[in-house]
Amino acid sequence: MELPFRKYSTSAQRFILLVLAVMVMGLIPLYHPLNWYPGDLVTRNPSEISPKYHAEEQKIDNKEPETCDIFSGKWVWNPVAPYYTNMTCTEIHEHQNCLKYGRPDSDFLKWRWKPNGCELPIFNPFQFLDVVRNKSLAVIGDSVARNQMQSLICLLSRVEYPVDVSDKPDQSFKKYKYTTYNFTLAIYWSPFLVSTKEADADGPCHTGLYNLYLDEADEKWTTQIEGYDYIILNAGHWFARCSVYFENNQRVGCRYCGLPNVTEIPLPYAYQRAFRTTLKAINNLENFKGVAILRTFAPSHYEGGDWNKGGDCVRTRPYSSNETALEGQSLEQYRIQVEEFKAAENEGKMKGKRFRLLDTTQAMLLRPDGHPSKYGHWPNENVVNDCVHWCLPGPIDSWADFLFRMFKMEGIRSLEKKLQ
Ligand SMILES: *[C@@H]1O[C@H](CO)[C@@H](O)[C@H](O)[C@H]1NC(C)=O
Ligand SMILES: *[C@@H]1O[C@H](CO)[C@@H](O)[C@H](O)[C@H]1NC(C)=O
Ligand SMILES: *[C@@H]1O[C@H](CO)[C@@H](O)[C@H](O)[C@H]1NC(C)=O
Ligand SMILES: *[C@@H]1O[C@H](CO)[C@@H](O)[C@H](O)[C@H]1NC(C)=O
Ligand SMILES: *[C@@H]1O[C@H](CO)[C@@H](O)[C@H](O)[C@H]1NC(C)=O
Repeated sequence: MELPFRKYSTSAQRFILLVLAVMVMGLIPLYHPLNWYPGDLVTRNPSEISPKYHAEEQKIDNKEPETCDIFSGKWVWNPVAPYYTNMTCTEIHEHQNCLKYGRPDSDFLKWRWKPNGCELPIFNPFQFLDVVRNKSLAVIGDSVARNQMQSLICLLSRVEYPVDVSDKPDQSFKKYKYTTYNFTLAIYWSPFLVSTKEADADGPCHTGLYNLYLDEADEKWTTQIEGYDYIILNAGHWFARCSVYFENNQRVGCRYCGLPNVTEIPLPYAYQRAFRTTLKAINNLENFKGVAILRTFAPSHYEGGDWNKGGDCVRTRPYSSNETALEGQSLEQYRIQVEEFKAAENEGKMKGKRFRLLDTTQAMLLRPDGHPSKYGHWPNENVVNDCVHWCLPGPIDSWADFLFRMFKMEGIRSLEKKLQ
């Protein structure tokens, strides 16, 4: 998926780029003598932590990006994980604090993603903050987006906690600042990405009935993103809810809405329209100069029934890739995202837009063991098993490994551009 290197026009440029790249990748760690990972997380005093991580492992092989798809691979055992606990990170959402609620197994914490044909370096919070100095990142989407943001905050908490600089008290729109690094991290709640009205808080499905305006991008984020260097978009699971679909302000159909004379339309239709509208909106936002990252669908893992029919996720180890395959609705949603992404990327090229795919689908498909299941709440609470979100710490922490790598590639890309 990552093809960042165009052919260099001269060998002199190539040489300069190489030298600069080695400087950028090689020197940053020198500024950070604390550039290591704690193996023993009970240790709170940094001076007691022994170095585990080495700068030379951080270098990106100049040949790698052309040939290596970092998003296809497998999970390999990583005994030094996790890199934080619920004791060292205070930002874990209650419902993802699996160890607090008694999850008995812990092997699910100890895997890292190994792409076929190359290595994906583990997230390094010091280097990450160096790379995003003076920059801003907005995560836009549903509660899995929040899950991802809290994972990032926890991984970065070994260096610094951000200050809450939100404009309003609303928990759905938070803005944080890493003051030492002048890095802004924000979240915008927009689970469908398009304009939405809750028509009924209960509705025929008892999970709400939503009016979706499939050809109108949600202003909650479109009016906010222009200043951001990076945005990460996602949407998925909410499309399974009962909805009424509108285009051109006309009702065109619905999903399980139970309204007389309204055509039932399959989910993929709405999903495709929503992504097309979303990505078009970005292409039409003249003042948005950042990198737009589409994070692909992370499948849920209900077995033995649907989410509301006693389904659960009780596995304790990852699948290997021959044990499972993306299928059904998940496959359809993934296919739509990739198709719409490619179309938008093509359209955006003329306008100088930068679209990237954070293609987490395959990696997460292989992690049926990473969900809270019944360990997102106390046993006496009457809540369905959660096989959608991800325990923290847990496999979603690897999204930061992908992001770290992608941001470093952006650095190399902009360096390359300057030399052209
Ligand atoms: C953290 O997890 C432990 C179990 O590993 C639990 O006893 C404790 O209450 C949790 N603490 C917090 C602050 O969530
Ligand atoms: C960050 O911004 C400050 C103030 O504008 C500037 O002095 C510094 O060089 C910038 N650092 C980077 C890495 O862009
Ligand atoms: C923080 O970064 C912004 C760019 O995102 C820059 O305009 C500003 O000068 C920086 N502030 C400081 C104090 O470095
Ligand atoms: C549904 O459609 C039928 C046939 O077009 C019409 O007779 C009926 O009045 C409609 N019902 C409603 C509630 O719109
Ligand atoms: C799946 O692959 C693993 C190794 O990757 C191998 O040990 C196992 O036998 C394979 N299973 C099947 C059913 O092919």
